[in-house]
Parts: sequence; structure tokens; C-alpha cells
Amino acid sequence: MLELDLASKQHDESRQGEALVLENKIKSEHQRKLYIESYGCAMNFSDSEIVASILSEEGFTTTPDYTEADVIFINTCSIRENAETRVRNRLKQFKAIKRTNKGLVIGVLGCMAERLKSKFLEEEQLVDVVVGPDAYRDLPNLIHQVNDGQKAINVLLSREETYADVSPVRLNSNGISAFISIMRGCDNMCSFCVVPFTRGRERSRDAHSIVKEAQDLLNAGYKEVTLLGQNVDSYKWASADGSEQVNFAQLLEMVALVSPDLRIRFSTSHPKDITDEVLYTMAKYDNICKYIHLPVQSGNSRILDLMNRTYDREWYIGKVDAIRRIMPECAISTDVISGFCSETEAEHQETLSMMELVKYEFAYMFSYSERPGTPAAKKLTDDVPEEVKQRRLTEIIALQQQHSHYRAQKRIGKIEKVLIEGFSKKSKADYSGRSDHNHVVIFPVDEKYQPGDYVNVLVEKTTTATLIGRIVE
Ligand code: SAH
Ligand code: SF4
Ligand code: F3S
Repeated sequence: MLELDLASKQHDESRQGEALVLENKIKSEHQRKLYIESYGCAMNFSDSEIVASILSEEGFTTTPDYTEADVIFINTCSIRENAETRVRNRLKQFKAIKRTNKGLVIGVLGCMAERLKSKFLEEEQLVDVVVGPDAYRDLPNLIHQVNDGQKAINVLLSREETYADVSPVRLNSNGISAFISIMRGCDNMCSFCVVPFTRGRERSRDAHSIVKEAQDLLNAGYKEVTLLGQNVDSYKWASADGSEQVNFAQLLEMVALVSPDLRIRFSTSHPKDITDEVLYTMAKYDNICKYIHLPVQSGNSRILDLMNRTYDREWYIGKVDAIRRIMPECAISTDVISGFCSETEAEHQETLSMMELVKYEFAYMFSYSERPGTPAAKKLTDDVPEEVKQRRLTEIIALQQQHSHYRAQKRIGKIEKVLIEGFSKKSKADYSGRSDHNHVVIFPVDEKYQPGDYVNVLVEKTTTATLIGRIVE
């Protein structure tokens, strides 16, 4: 209706000024809508909530329907080539609406924006705004620039930005679990990894702002928080006058003390940095989940050295032993890369034997994808043929399936404390939740309990990795 109104006025030359005034009035009266889609790791999903918060100050509300949006943001990942391909394909789908909705602003945020910078604007004519992960406070200004008919870009990385004072707008939230970003960037320079280039230097967020966010979430009814960082074990914050210093173990304790009813998870741990102090803190508090994501990447020391992971096979095994010694029941998951530069068959076998040794609960498994500009791309040759990488990956996945099943089976007959997240995907007669060890647990609905409640579930059977059981009092 309003569009028609404007169109008819535009035919009348003498009234064009009036049409513009009317258009501006409509824009300020109708609440502008933001559609935001996130790819990549949890940090990106968490950042999208910061973006939504910054734009809510400008009067934007979020919409799950991109066809009705005034601004479409796609928060991107560069970790592997196929992550970038997915984003490019998605942008093509937005093309059609851009043709019919001339005022629509399309922005690329996150790691791919940071990696490609202004190249993005050249390559993808559709895109109006390119914004790196440390420049989100500039978004309102950048959107104004686009509304004035320019393309806009800000990909400056910062040494200080942590968005500590921004209170995230929770997106796609179940109202039960939420992410809390505790640090940004990464100083580790693993040779295969693009993250140090897309996210900049590591910096830790004010510990008190983290505790406050956890408290606010608890007050809003949340029951689980996941503390996020690329390498949480190197979290280190000091107050301005240096009188207060907080490491990751101390931060964990501070968050655990918010309430015994608030569950705490964290990701990701780095094998070189995880300390016994962290493990003892985990053991001390029932509400810190006994689950550690400890990416191994490879089981072979020469490859680990080429990857610049700064630990070797023995060191990693030592960390697993420490976890098992201090928390015998603790679940461990991992990330594995197949076919890294010059990896031999025997070295690949060592990855499989490492997996046999640990028998991970879960794993994220990838074939090596060379990323432009990384140390590996500069100094090493991506010489393992694609079919060999894929065959090794298939072997890794098959072995992990056996181990996931083995770990799930070991839970049969045990009582798990489960936080109910909602109905199971398959049936409204069942609830789905997560155990302390991060297993998905399915069990029949009992009206006495609602999503957000903790229940004790006796595990009776399993699928490959899901536990199935019933509530016991
Ligand atoms: N900070 C985390 C990992 C972040 S990236 C850590 O240090 O473990 C998530 C995972 O993606 C990595 O653990 C790695 O297994 C995988 N990955 C990163 N770069 C990759 C690449 N170039 N090719 C294939 N997989 C990669
Ligand atoms: Fe990448 Fe290594 Fe940093 Fe993880 S620790 S984000 S793999 S550089
Ligand atoms: Fe991807 Fe950036 Fe995360 S590259 S994995 S979105 S830090």
C-alpha cells in the first residue's frame, strides 16, 4: 500500500520532494528489520547477538524472514574453503530480492569479510557493507553510509575490543542455554589456521562483566552458559591498576559460584595450555560440566610440529591422563585434520592409534583445506592428493563412530543429570536434553517437568551417540 502510494507520486515531477519526505517518514515510523544468518564457530553465533544488540539501539528488530528485512547480514567463516563457498552460494540466493527491493542493505560480517576486505566488494557486486569482527560498533554509521548511496567497509582489527559492555540480544534462543564470549582473537599461529588473521590478537574480557552476564542470564531463567574463546586456557585478565588478576581456572570458579543451578561449559581448550588448576576447579564444582573439547588435530609428533601446535603426541597423552586422573568420568572430544602437508600413511595411522587410545566421546573431523596467507600455505606444500585426504578422513570418521557408540554404551545403566531443552525432534511424546557429558538424552515426557528443569534419567539404551532412557526420581 505504501509502496503504491510512493510510486504514484513519483510520476508527478512537482511532488517528488514530497515523496522523499514521505519515504523518510515511513522509514522512521516503520521499525527497520534485521535478518542475520551465522556460519562457522560458536564465536560467530555469539557475535551475531552482539550485532543484533548494537543495531537494536538504532531501532532495529530482528526477523527470521529475510524477505521482509531492510538489512540482511551474513556472518561468515573462512576456516575451510567449503565454508566460504557456502557463503557465496547463499549470497547468490539473496540476489533476487535485491532486484525487487532496491533499498535493501546486504552486509558481509565476520571472518570472510576480514580475510577478503575490499576484495569482497569487487567480487560480489551485490554486497553493500563489509565489516570485520572488531568493527561492529561502527555498524550504525556504516549503514548510514550505504543509505546515502555509498559502499561501506570497516575491517580494522583491535587489540582492546571485547564488547564487554554490550548486552547480547539472544537469537534463536531456547531460553535455557546461552554463549558468553570471554575472549577474542588468537595468538597461537597454528600453521593451517586462518583465525589469527581474521580475528586478530588475543584479548580477554573483563572478568566481572562475564560474571554479570552469567548472573543476568540466570535471572532471565537460563540454566546453562558456555564460555567461549579460541583458547580459553590462555584467558588472562587484569584490572586497570593491576591489583586483580584472573586466569581461566579462577574465572571458571567465579562463574560456577553464580549459582549451583547454572551449568557451565566452555570451549575450546588447547592441549598446550590446559592446566591441572583448571581440572581441579572442574572437579570441585558439580555445576561445571565434566566435558572437555581438546582438539588433537593429529596423533603424530612430526605433523603436530609442522602444524605448530607446540605439543607432541606424548604431551597430549599426558594431558588426557591428567584429565582421567583428576576426573575419571570426564568426557573428552576432539578435532582432527586428515591429510595435512606431507602426512604419510604411517603418520595417519598414528592419528588412528591416538583415537584408539583416548576413545573420544565425539569428534569434529576435517580434511586439510589450505587457506591463503597462512604459514602452511606460505611454507609447506599441500601435497597429499585429495582422494587420499578423503580416504583417510573416511577411516577417521568410521573409527570415531565406533568410539562414539562405545562411549554411549558405557552409559547404559547409569543415571545422568539431564537439563531438559525441549521436545525431541522426532516426537512430542519425548523430551530431549543434554547430560553433563554433553550427550543428547531422549526420554518420555513427564508433565511434572518442563524445559529448563534438571531431571535424573536412567539410561536404558542408545543409538550411535544418543542416550535413551526414563526419568527416575
Ligand atoms: N581454536 C580451536 C579451533 C578453532 S577452528 C583450537 O585451537 O583447537 C576449529 C577446527 O577447524 C580446528 O580445530 C581444526 O581441526 C579445523 N581447521 C582449522 N583450519 C583448518 C584447515 N585449514 N583445514 C581443515 N581443518 C581446519
Ligand atoms: Fe586456530 Fe590454533 Fe588459534 Fe585454534 S589455537 S584458533 S587452531 S590458531
Ligand atoms: Fe570460522 Fe572465524 Fe570461527 S574462521 S571457525 S568463524 S573464528
